Amino acid sequence: MRIDILTLLPELLDSPLGFSIVKRAQTKGFVDICLHNIRDCGKGTYRQVDDYAFGGSAGMVMMIEPIFTLMEKLKAERDYDEIIFLTPDGERLNQPMVNRMSNYTNLMVLCGHYKGIDHRIREHLITKEISIGDYVLSGGELAAAVLVDAIVRVMPGVISDETSALTDSFQDGLLSPPVYSRPEEFNNWRVPEVLLSGNHKLIAQWEEEQALERTKLLRPDLLKE
Ligand code: ADE
Repeated sequence: MRIDILTLLPELLDSPLGFSIVKRAQTKGFVDICLHNIRDCGKGTYRQVDDYAFGGSAGMVMMIEPIFTLMEKLKAERDYDEIIFLTPDGERLNQPMVNRMSNYTNLMVLCGHYKGIDHRIREHLITKEISIGDYVLSGGELAAAVLVDAIVRVMPGVISDETSALTDSFQDGLLSPPVYSRPEEFNNWRVPEVLLSGNHKLIAQWEEEQALERTKLLRPDLLKE
């Protein structure tokens, strides 16, 4: 899978994409993540990328030309399954959407400023708008990091079988059961006996019950969907 990320702040993404599972997935060749600085397609000697808003509202607006130029260049090289804009008024991201996108071949992700992007970009160039939650970030970069991390970890082969992403919370519509490690007792706090029993059937049953109980308690909305 190839993911092209268009941003004015590529450095902001270096760290989230440069560690742990996402880094390993790139090293092993499961995913090719390319950061593109929109400023490289900026207008004129000053590489201008934003301008005043028509109508006099406060703040600068990301111009359509640099983004159009960069997108056209990339689109000439490959076909994209989706061109995504991250914005708080997009469709709220969830695990089924992530799973679907993990099967894509080419994904383009535009990071911008929700209030400050020429609306024609959204009307004519973007194929899907996604929000990572009902709050406003300073820009799309952190949201893009969240989206890419979520997609990469469910790509087949990225996580080993025993820690499979299929056992994550939300994969079966439920929260995950709790996990414990050694020591069996710390500070008088004991690991649930069933987990020490060695009885795999009982353990699986307990985990199922816990998943359901925790979901009822913490996220009853998931059971209504
Ligand atoms: N950009 C700013 N806020 C955002 C959010 N909540 N989700 C996605 N992109 C954003």
